[in-house]
Amino acid sequence: MNQQTAVTDTPAPKAKTLPDAQTVTEVQHYTDRLFRFRVTRPQSLRFRSGEFVMIGLPGDDGKPIMRAYSIASPSWDEGLDFYSIKVQDGPLTSRLQHIQPGDQIILRPKPVGTLVLDALLPGKRLWFFATGTGIAPFASLMRDPDTYERYDEVIMMHTCRDVAELAYGRELIESLPDDPLIGEFVGDKLKYYPTTTREQSPFMGRITDNLLSGKVFADLGIDGMSPETDRGMVCGSLEFNKDIMAILDGMGLREGANSDPAEYVVEKAFVG
Ligand code: A2P
Repeated sequence: MNQQTAVTDTPAPKAKTLPDAQTVTEVQHYTDRLFRFRVTRPQSLRFRSGEFVMIGLPGDDGKPIMRAYSIASPSWDEGLDFYSIKVQDGPLTSRLQHIQPGDQIILRPKPVGTLVLDALLPGKRLWFFATGTGIAPFASLMRDPDTYERYDEVIMMHTCRDVAELAYGRELIESLPDDPLIGEFVGDKLKYYPTTTREQSPFMGRITDNLLSGKVFADLGIDGMSPETDRGMVCGSLEFNKDIMAILDGMGLREGANSDPAEYVVEKAFVG
């Protein structure tokens, strides 16, 4: 047996399987700051639209680097979608941004979160307020038939720095009325109000400013928000969440929770 054969005959080291491993099936990059990816779904995983799970990769020392990620896909979907920022020196996203189909990630199958329909009292109109990757939980909620069964009108407000950063949300929302599974529930109930703050686009300005000035109400032909009819879900940076909460409180809405449903709920978007 020559050396060459001996090397070939040596069994390849078994691919290391991570605990709670899921396989990446799709990756799509939108900008140098944003991408989405899809992974296989553990058969036993049940979740409510708007919830998040911990996902991650093994670090150099073998210890997993885990972060909270909202599930962006609907609960009826066979895969799991995530929408992520890329932070060049971020412990997780500096590596996660390089994943390719066939790679494995770690996914702890324990969904939790406050952005769930059950944490809200019944109402007429449901507002989704998001900045940046904060749109992820709403990508799930916008595809949940329950959202449209509970509310007459659903308004998705999303603010990003520039038009390219709106693409993920825009493409998803534009596809919904014709979606074979969810299209008939969506009908004409879903209103989309995208704005940019650092590039010219048809609608400009921060969500907070557009609420305070009343511009969004004038643009949509709505009188305003009231605790009798309106419900809100908020997902963005800490500062954004704080500013929106102050506005909603000022309109008489109260923060709710799973155990004590009220008029709005808040979740911090993943940012690192
Ligand atoms: P701005 O460009 O005025 O900072 P980021 O990409 O930094 O996460 O921000 C996403 C979007 O959220 C940007 O359009 C940003 O506007 C907006 N934003 C950031 N902080 C707030 C806040 N406190 N209230 C409302 N909008 C905010």
